[in-house]
Amino acid sequence: MCYAIPGRVVELNDRVAVVDYFGEHRKVVNEFDNLAVGDYVYAQGGFVVQRVSREAAEETLETWREAFFELQKVDEKLSNVNPPTAGKDFLELMDKASLGRPLSSDEILRLLGSEDDGELKLLYTTANLMRKRNLKNSCCVHGIIEFSNHCRRDCAYCGIRQGNGSLPRYRMTVDEIVDAAGEAVNVHGFKALVLQSGEDSWYSIERLTETIRRIKEECGVLIFMSVGERGRECYRRMYEAGARGVLLRFETSNRELYGRFHPGGKLSDRLKLIRHAADLGYLVATGSLIGLPGQTTEDLMNDILLTKELGAEMHSFGPFIPNPDTPLAGAVPSEVDSVLKVLAVSRLLSPDAKILVTTALETLDPDAARMGLLAGANSLMIKLTPGEYGKNYALYPGIQSNKTTEDRITETLELLYSLGRAPTDLGI
Ligand code: 5AD
Repeated sequence: MCYAIPGRVVELNDRVAVVDYFGEHRKVVNEFDNLAVGDYVYAQGGFVVQRVSREAAEETLETWREAFFELQKVDEKLSNVNPPTAGKDFLELMDKASLGRPLSSDEILRLLGSEDDGELKLLYTTANLMRKRNLKNSCCVHGIIEFSNHCRRDCAYCGIRQGNGSLPRYRMTVDEIVDAAGEAVNVHGFKALVLQSGEDSWYSIERLTETIRRIKEECGVLIFMSVGERGRECYRRMYEAGARGVLLRFETSNRELYGRFHPGGKLSDRLKLIRHAADLGYLVATGSLIGLPGQTTEDLMNDILLTKELGAEMHSFGPFIPNPDTPLAGAVPSEVDSVLKVLAVSRLLSPDAKILVTTALETLDPDAARMGLLAGANSLMIKLTPGEYGKNYALYPGIQSNKTTEDRITETLELLYSLGRAPTDLGI
């Protein structure tokens, strides 16, 4: 099974390799010694992550060749539906956005504030067309391993907050994490993994860097670390060990709301760390929670603009879902459309970004992944946390399912194929 298409190196200039995929050329950063023109590689997030033998690559490419162009045809057909109708002002706004002209704050608020079915359909269709025009049908499928649910923080919405005494806690050993990553890459074919945990200092810098180093030794994969506010030194050392991505949401761009929901935390500290990670060279995945109590449409606009300003490689916006074991137990959950609007407007403002459909959104509606992918999104994550551990990584209440990793992969691939999307990451 494979979540990326191998490409052939056709040019090498210093650290930049040009890779050919069925005639399309993409630039990627190469950190391998002795890579040569003519070699076959897998690239993820703009980095070469694996070299593959000519035989293995040609075999994979043979099975992909027809599917690649067939899927593009399906995507083309689904994207070019007759545009739904809406009022003249809304139609003009969509024309403006699809021409790539900047939208004013009032115009963004107009889009995010719409509750009209026709307008929303048009917004999603336009965002989907922009996704197709700029990024074709490729869709990133990253795996996520949630390795510890211990957390020293007390975020008001989060089920793994320190103050939640009713949650059974777990920590995976370094060996267990390395094994789970090895299986994800070598058995299931993932090319990018997110390693996520609460803010858990049991994982010293040494333990984290050892984990990263051992995974990199064992398999060619792009590693995103999602371990919260662990300090600049920790982020520097994790980069040195081989991690190339950081997933750290700023959660909300509203300073006052941030303070209210994150006891002892400061939005400015979090933003400094995200910017620091970007300066270190990490690919940054960030974003916010949609539907927090007290959040306004203006806040959502600022969340989208801040994500763009932070230069995020991947935009991660998900719905707030009240967790019964937290102080926000009684709050109202986010609506699916509130999230879809944010995804669609993000796409209009950041045509080239990777925009994620989160598992939280899928929890709100089993059809949400499809809806998100048709509203401008082009990335998904599959949970790979082993068995019992996965059940206890309970950030928000989810549908308890007995699905195996294989089931989840099969379902995701079926969904992607039905939409004409290729589970690939063709680099930058
Ligand atoms: N609903 C939705 N998302 C949540 N997260 C934490 N608690 C919840 C909740 N109740 C999200 C946070 C965090 C990510 C790992 O999980 O945004 O960044």
